[in-house]
Amino acid sequence: MPQNRIQNNFASDKNRVLIFDTTLRDGEQSPGATMTHAEKLEIAHLLDEMGVDIIEAGFPIASEGDFQAVSEIAKITKNATICGLSRANIRDIDRAWEAVKHAASPRIHTFIGTSPQHRAIPNLTMDQMAERIHETVTHARNLCDNVQWSPMDATRTEHDYLCRVVEIAIKAGATTINIPDTVGYTAPRESADLIRMLLERVPGADEIIFATHCHNDLGMATANSLAAVEAGARQIECTINGLGERAGNTALEEVVMAMRVRHDIMPFDTKIDTTKIMHISRRVATVSGFPVQFNKAIVGKNAFAHESGIHQDGMLKSADTFEIMRPADIGLAGTSLPLGKHSGRAALRAKMRELGIEMADNQLNDLFVRFKALADRKKEVYDDDLIALVQDADTNE
Ligand code: KIV
Ligand code: ZN
Repeated sequence: MPQNRIQNNFASDKNRVLIFDTTLRDGEQSPGATMTHAEKLEIAHLLDEMGVDIIEAGFPIASEGDFQAVSEIAKITKNATICGLSRANIRDIDRAWEAVKHAASPRIHTFIGTSPQHRAIPNLTMDQMAERIHETVTHARNLCDNVQWSPMDATRTEHDYLCRVVEIAIKAGATTINIPDTVGYTAPRESADLIRMLLERVPGADEIIFATHCHNDLGMATANSLAAVEAGARQIECTINGLGERAGNTALEEVVMAMRVRHDIMPFDTKIDTTKIMHISRRVATVSGFPVQFNKAIVGKNAFAHESGIHQDGMLKSADTFEIMRPADIGLAGTSLPLGKHSGRAALRAKMRELGIEMADNQLNDLFVRFKALADRKKEVYDDDLIALVQDADTNE
């Protein structure tokens, strides 16, 4: 049976946070985000290259296509653990194992909804569900020594019952317990308290890794994930660009950069090569057909763009004035200072220099007046517009 690589490596470093990427599973569950087989292989390769610890490659029972994609990713991935999702039944688990078993480091992830809202669906009593959890996790663990178990909708599950089923899953052999905020309902303090409560109350909790899996329905997925880590969770489940069901999942780029930029107050380490973030963000946007919103943290078009005069002037003097990260940290060529009606003389002069046009102060003042008039009519003034303004001035002289 393959060794549980992650558990073994992880034990020695208490501040190491594992990054579990589910772009190819939860991300692909966004209505309309379906990716082709070749696109999934490409994204898995990029995730592996950037240092993701675990790739949830799909839901093998869901379709023949998903099964094939997970199997292929399992065969070709070099570093990451490859995980396949399954519901809490033997057929699903066997299918997930069939798909991941060729990986150098395979993982089975099995789940069942434990909240009152979700227990009603399979029509199981609490005791029957507990028995099902014991049977299915035991079955998964007999196939694979790396088993993740998730009580779906954990954040709306009664605490006593949650502790009870988590203990059952640990005793049955789960090595990672994931705590999903399936409907994006929790808030940072509650997210932390839940992990702390489980660590304190559940026997054997210190032997396994707790994961946090947040959805963004109230815009708090990143904050909730980081709060869970501060309380002791050591795996964050996330997707590129926050792709995922409804309002999406925790965005990988946000949690990774938050822990890097604010390492002073969140001293947690991942092994993500952040300079690969921008490229994978663009590829996921393209293959999923989900464009990234302009003002999205880290990877949005405007995340490193400054239009107002005060900001541009500050940025031209020192990048520290209005940027807390360097564009190069995420693999972006540089800051952009788009020229618009809020821009000032300093940025206009810098742009003209960049275009190879040196101007005396009076020429620049004259250009500035005409540039402002144009900027009032146009959202953004491009290089060609500026060159035309200069040529107009030359002709009128
Ligand atoms: O959001 C969720 O609860 C899930 C589970 C399958 C882990 O995606
Ligand atoms: Zn989810």
